[in-house]
Amino acid sequence: MSPSRRYPETGVFYRALDREFPMIVRGEGCWLVDDKGRRYLDACGGAYVANLGHGVSEVADAVAEQVRRVAYVNGTAFTNEPAEELAAELRTLNPKGLDYAYFLSSGSEAVEAALKLARQYWVESGKPGKHKVIARAPGYHGNTLLALSASARGHYKKLFGPWLVPVTMIPAPYPYRCAPDSGAMTAQALEDAILKEGADTVAAFIAEPVSGSSTGGSVPPPDYFKRVRQICDKHSVLFVADEVLCGAGRTGKWTAGEHFDAAPDIMTLGKGLSGGYVPLSAVVTRKKIIDPIANGSGSLKHAQTFSHSPAICAAGLAAVRHIKKHGLVQRSADMGAVLHRKLRALLELPSVGDVRGLGLLAGIEFVADKKTKAPFPRSLKFAESFVSAALDAGLVVWPNVGHADGENGDLVMVAPPFTVSESEIDEIVARFKTALEACHVRR
Ligand SMILES: Cc1ncc(COP(=O)(O)O)c(C=O)c1O
Repeated sequence: MSPSRRYPETGVFYRALDREFPMIVRGEGCWLVDDKGRRYLDACGGAYVANLGHGVSEVADAVAEQVRRVAYVNGTAFTNEPAEELAAELRTLNPKGLDYAYFLSSGSEAVEAALKLARQYWVESGKPGKHKVIARAPGYHGNTLLALSASARGHYKKLFGPWLVPVTMIPAPYPYRCAPDSGAMTAQALEDAILKEGADTVAAFIAEPVSGSSTGGSVPPPDYFKRVRQICDKHSVLFVADEVLCGAGRTGKWTAGEHFDAAPDIMTLGKGLSGGYVPLSAVVTRKKIIDPIANGSGSLKHAQTFSHSPAICAAGLAAVRHIKKHGLVQRSADMGAVLHRKLRALLELPSVGDVRGLGLLAGIEFVADKKTKAPFPRSLKFAESFVSAALDAGLVVWPNVGHADGENGDLVMVAPPFTVSESEIDEIVARFKTALEACHVRR
């Protein structure tokens, strides 16, 4: 048996059991403040969530007012004003035809429900043989069992293998590590997989339009999703765009798919949709997907107690209206350009192999050898030690590991609130350098 790890005996079952956590008591814009008064620059908006910045009182007031009026109603018996108004706001923002939103709480729930919707659509359209899902590696879509099955995260999946369903994986476009004419970059890998599985058996292809942590903000070639759309149409496969991380303005457009002009059949939103003020996600789809269900069984078979909750939708409504009122999607594009210009300076530093991304979504990949792009061996835990050094420097970033070859690979993500200023971006870069120096000294 390994020696027992140290964790505080407070009654909280912590996210990590090998250390103590600072206690955050307040958030203001891009900053978090702990109980000792120490300030942290939240350079990833938590987990790409705090898109509006911390401490926006408009959103807090809207939630408080709704909770006083009515916090919860049974979604199978009633509708409510915040859900109706939020759906109407989303219609003005989402790509044309993606008009119907089914509200849930987490990104994993939204992915789970989106894939079930795809399956239910085919069954109720008279094609019950279509059940298979195709996803990409590297890729991540959540931690509930269907979403995890569609994710290429070996270290999350290992324990639960016997419970996961088979999902066909194709390589994701990853310009830093893929040849431009490879099937991964041209989307030919998708067509090959559909033909191999048999189009009559394939229900859906799921992909992030701009990849979040999995390939560290890698942007696909401009024609990739046009080709995906053509392949899906040709073989009657639904295209599910997972916009949980890259949507809601993160890449400088409301949805990342708009950069590539390839509208999905089903889309998920989450994380920044409520700016993190409450857990809110959504499955968004088209009339043509809902109609066979409306004319058939009459409901999506994915009942959850808190779906369409007034309190939760009120936060989402206030957040979306705040984003519109303050032009924050355009700000994400504008400040994103500043962020990427300034982050390029990091390429001069030892171990920084690549810097990429779109809008206020950036990935910085660390490598052992810049020429060969060889990753550090996983045993070095480079990303983890960088994140720890960054926290010591008062900088919060988000790590990812394993993307280079399924096991090795270290990167960190920078995705600050859309309100980030140019001087705060300078501060992110300065603290990043400090953390990297400290990281090299410790090794
Ligand atoms: C692309 C993507 N989809 C789905 C999820 C799952 O969302 P959640 O953690 O809210 O369940 C995540 C989480 O990081 C994500 O990045």
